[in-house]
Amino acid sequence: MDHFLYKDGTLFAEDVPVAEIAAQVGTPFYCYSTATLERHFRLFDEALEGMPHLVCYAMKAASNQAILKTLAALGAGMDVVSGGEYARAKAAGVPGDRIVFSGVGKTEEEIRAALTGGIRQFNVESEPEMREIDRVARSLGVVAPITVRVNPDVDAKTHEKIATGKSENKFGIPIAKARQVYAEAAALPGLKVVGIDVHIGSQLTELEPFELAYKKVAELTEALRADGHEITRLDLGGGLGIPYERGNTAPPLPIEYGALIKRTLGHLGCEIEIEPGRLVAGNAGILVSRVIYMKEGEGRDFMILDAAMNDLVRPAMYSAHHDIIPVVEAEAGAEQKPYDIVGPVCESGDTFAKQRNMPLTAAGDLVAFRSAGAYGAVMSSEYNTRPLIPEVLVKDDQYAVIRKRPTFDEIINRDTIPEWL
Ligand code: LLP
Repeated sequence: MDHFLYKDGTLFAEDVPVAEIAAQVGTPFYCYSTATLERHFRLFDEALEGMPHLVCYAMKAASNQAILKTLAALGAGMDVVSGGEYARAKAAGVPGDRIVFSGVGKTEEEIRAALTGGIRQFNVESEPEMREIDRVARSLGVVAPITVRVNPDVDAKTHEKIATGKSENKFGIPIAKARQVYAEAAALPGLKVVGIDVHIGSQLTELEPFELAYKKVAELTEALRADGHEITRLDLGGGLGIPYERGNTAPPLPIEYGALIKRTLGHLGCEIEIEPGRLVAGNAGILVSRVIYMKEGEGRDFMILDAAMNDLVRPAMYSAHHDIIPVVEAEAGAEQKPYDIVGPVCESGDTFAKQRNMPLTAAGDLVAFRSAGAYGAVMSSEYNTRPLIPEVLVKDDQYAVIRKRPTFDEIINRDTIPEWL
């Protein structure tokens, strides 16, 4: 459920007409709903009720500080994957002891920054990285809390570019090797082992892969405890999918996911961390765009938008589906037509949808891409020197620009010209 609904024939974000924001801010822009963000975060928090837990929002999904502050105010922790994300989370006021640091290539500088600024734990992805964290921690005279990310070799049954839990993926250490790696970790004086980490992929639409992975984690917890390790924390990653296409079967709900966690891991008495990103932010954001031209092609009509693949890359990159709806609601039974919905970038891949049935549309009309809150703005680029588009946050009947559109001068002036030119 989200808070982008038609009222009196026009699309609202909570209590604000989307067309009003478009008139004020210009198109294209991203628009987030505070109520939806909060609701989705709480669904996870409530799903784990009764177990000690921390929901660490995977801020890679949508990392504007206004979004981070909204979630942090509810008690969210953050899952970060770079020094930049760590700095952003800190700037948004998230305390270090609520930040977990994931990712296969943490650099010395990133490790040092996190150890200096405070960190809940590093999720270690390889032995060389583990030794590096130990070395940096000792050089600072501190002890780094770690989990080791294990790769359970489970098929997440999702798009191959976002599956991470198979043995051929670059993530984690093979679960069969875990006892050996934990033995080495325990011997390194700069490290304190606090638990186990696992994350098998994103946009999972079934619970079974989670169940297989979590059962393996339960077995490993017992084996490691028998080896003398203190395993008090299990980080279970993110990955629960969202419904992108209305009318299709919806993925399992957070409450069902929480019940699965309790069933598979509850007996271990560990603190549970989860790292949801997409489910928190995905349906809490839309991308609003204006039709520049309607173009008649051969045997097909093109709807040319002012948004492009540089603003929302998911369709081009993963062939992802996003529902695209008119901002002015079509009357019931109104005529529909198939359109190829494209952006202005000079690539055929700049196509959002092919032969998509839409109500009759004219140049100047506004459309909204649903489910664009996660992996939307954060993956955008300035390809074709198209400025990064604004982000707007709505709360009830208020809205605020939380990232403004840069001017051409601001973009151009970032270049520096060598003296020989
Ligand atoms: N934890 C770790 C270690 C991750 O790598 C990810 C996502 C998450 C948590 C959050 O997963 P989520 O709950 O959002 O599924 N750009 C792609 C998605 C990439 C996901 C990368 N890792 C897309 O647009 O579909």
